[in-house]
Order: sequence, then structure tokens, then C-alpha cells
Amino acid sequence: MSTETAPVPTSPRAVRAEGAPNLTVTPRHVAIIMDGNGRWAKARRKPRTEGHHAGTQNVPRVLRCLGDHGVGCVTLFAFSTENWARPRGEVEAIFELLAESLKKEAEVLHREGVRIKHLGRTDRLSAALADEIRRSVELTKDNSRMTLGVAFDYGGRSELVDAVRGIISDGLEAEAVTDEVIGRRLYTEGMPDPDLIIRTAGEMRLSNFMLWQAAYAEYYSTEVLWPDFDETETIKALEAYGQRRRRYGKVDDL
Ligand code: IPE
Ligand code: IPE
Ligand code: MG
Repeated sequence: MSTETAPVPTSPRAVRAEGAPNLTVTPRHVAIIMDGNGRWAKARRKPRTEGHHAGTQNVPRVLRCLGDHGVGCVTLFAFSTENWARPRGEVEAIFELLAESLKKEAEVLHREGVRIKHLGRTDRLSAALADEIRRSVELTKDNSRMTLGVAFDYGGRSELVDAVRGIISDGLEAEAVTDEVIGRRLYTEGMPDPDLIIRTAGEMRLSNFMLWQAAYAEYYSTEVLWPDFDETETIKALEAYGQRRRRYGKVDDL
């Protein structure tokens, strides 16, 4: 028997060759704050709605790339509870884009084994859009290759308000309320917490996204605007994630 003992890999970073891309640690859940559509359009002297159109067209390539790298759960922040304050025409254009892409892509996603989950409220959406969302959720509900969370009319605070309402209407005793009970009442029920939250267009804030679930997420912010966030940028974000050391409040063992 050899006297040489192989070094025990203590963390993915410890076994990584210097300079080599690290894609060995795959986040289970990647959540994306798709920001910068307006700035993308402005830079081209186009109306903001063109930016939303370009942003929508960018979704499939990023999803494919994440899927190819083994990410099993992706959430896309597409419309926030605060985005209602935008001009009516812009809000309507965003709604139309979601309805259109669900109509066009739900079947394709279904064939690829993607389960679509809507995160947010539907009561303020048009009946047609709410129906389209329900249809694609229903169509894909038994798929298991990837979960795609579509955060649309989503707000982290409304999500918590809805969770508290649900818990109260269940008649739970105060002592029975635990992290797990709350987690089961969130829109993300059944999804792991995001490991990596990507924000495009450079802002360093959550903008009311995943307030509960982001407790131990790793953040990645890039100046790249969402319509320009391609496969190379996606891989850069995954690589950055691979470099992070997650301690969850513990003392590092290296
Ligand atoms: C993100 O792009 C899309 C939504 C918030 C709906 P923005 O429209 O916020 O783009 P910027 O921030 O104005 O560039
Ligand atoms: C966050 O972007 C919401 C979405 C990407 C859907 P915003 O553009 O609304 O965020 P703020 O206003 O810059 O915080
Ligand atoms: Mg924005």
C-alpha cells in the first residue's frame, strides 16, 4: 500500500487548479433579477418596450445554459409589485410579452421536462394572462428535469403577508409556527432556497425579491444589461459562485 495519502478535498476551492474555471460546484437554485431592459433600449434610442422585448428574447439562451450546467431550479424576476407604478403602456407591454412567451414557449418547456411555477399574485392580472399562467403551470406540473419559477407580480413583502394570512387561517398556535411552516406557505414552496442571486445592470439591491429565501444566498451583480447577459456572462456568474465559501455563520475549517 502506498504511504502517500491523497489530500482530503476540504472544499471545492481547495481542489481547484489555480486559474482553472471552477464549475464543479453547481448552485441548485439560481434566481435572476433581470434588470436593465430600459437602459438597453435608451442606449439605442428605442422605446423602453423594445428593451423588454429584447429581454424576453434573452431568456431561452440563459435557461438553456443554466440547464446544460446542471442547474435544476431557476427563478426569473420579471415584474415586481412595485412595477405597477410604471406608465400604463409599459406595464401592458410587459404583460403582453409574458402572455405571448407563455403561449409560445410553454409547450417547448413542457417537452424539455421543465415545471413552470408562478411566484406572485394573479388577482390584479387580466383574466387572459392569469389563465395563460394557470394553463402553463397545469401543463407542466409533473415535470421534474428543471423547475422554472416565474416571479410575476411578485413582491417579497406580499409573499410574507400572504404566508402569515395562510398560517392564521389554518388556525395554528403561535408555538407551532416554525421556519418550515413559513417556508411551506411561501410562493416558493417545494423549491430550494436560491444559492445564487444574479442581478444584471449593476444595482446592489434586492428590490423586494426573495426576502425570506435569500437569507444565505450568494449575490452576484454585473453591469451587463439583461438583454446582453449571454452564455459567457452566465458562466462567469457560475464561476464566481464556485469561488465563494459559504459558512452559514460557522467558523471556516481551513
Ligand atoms: C427590468 O428592466 C424589467 C422590469 C423591471 C420589468 P427595467 O425596465 O427596470 O430596466 P431599467 O432599470 O430601467 O434599465
Ligand atoms: C427589479 O427591477 C424588478 C425586476 C427586475 C422585475 P426594478 O428596476 O424594478 O428595481 P429598482 O426600481 O431599480 O429597485
Ligand atoms: Mg430597473
